[in-house]
Amino acid sequence: MNTENLKKIAAEKATENIESGMIVGLGTGSTVYYALLKLGEMIREGLDIVGIPTSAGTEEIAIAQQIPLTTLASSPTIDLTIDGADEVDAHLNLIKGGGAALVREKIIANASKRILIVVDESKVSRVLGTTFPLPVEIVRFGWESTQTKVNRICGRSTLRLTTQNGNQQSLITDNGNYILDCHFDGIPEPEKIELQLNNIPGVVENGIFVNRADKIIIGTPSGIRYME
Ligand code: 5RP
Repeated sequence: MNTENLKKIAAEKATENIESGMIVGLGTGSTVYYALLKLGEMIREGLDIVGIPTSAGTEEIAIAQQIPLTTLASSPTIDLTIDGADEVDAHLNLIKGGGAALVREKIIANASKRILIVVDESKVSRVLGTTFPLPVEIVRFGWESTQTKVNRICGRSTLRLTTQNGNQQSLITDNGNYILDCHFDGIPEPEKIELQLNNIPGVVENGIFVNRADKIIIGTPSGIRYME
């Protein structure tokens, strides 16, 4: 099975937890994409749910799949969220934000009664920050100064770039901010680093999610594996 198949089996497995009447948090990324496709199929077959997307990209896919949408203003409590992750440790702590949606993902996670994380097995790691740089969303004003302070914690970070019409430019998030990708030599105390980074003026949020996931659904070549 290739990675796309591993993502697909994990994401589709997560949708088995969705029942009519639920408010569903819709995560972001190439793994959750398969859950959105499956949800669209289930809705066409009669499932009655409303979703709250974690990014403009997910909103677009949800609309194309005819998934009815609502907002946190009208539905402040989410029954179940399905989201992806960039790195997962054995304590169910996560690094997220590879898709630059970490701020909305953390807000949605905070409003959710239950969170299922869908990944392929390459995302599982012994210590966070060893296989994926930590995304940190920062406001654009004075960003170089914010980066200097962030680097005191992680050592080195890079401003995330994107290519548009053949030109490389700074990536702007759905919230109008920049992303720094922070290169740690491992994050053995994620809870501490999450708080330290968020304490720097200019930092909006970072991609460490501690004690938030209820279950990790992992696609492996021999089938689904769970961590809970
Ligand atoms: C977006 C995220 C994604 O959930 C994370 O990057 C995983 O994405 P993918 O499933 O494409 O690997 O945190 O901000």
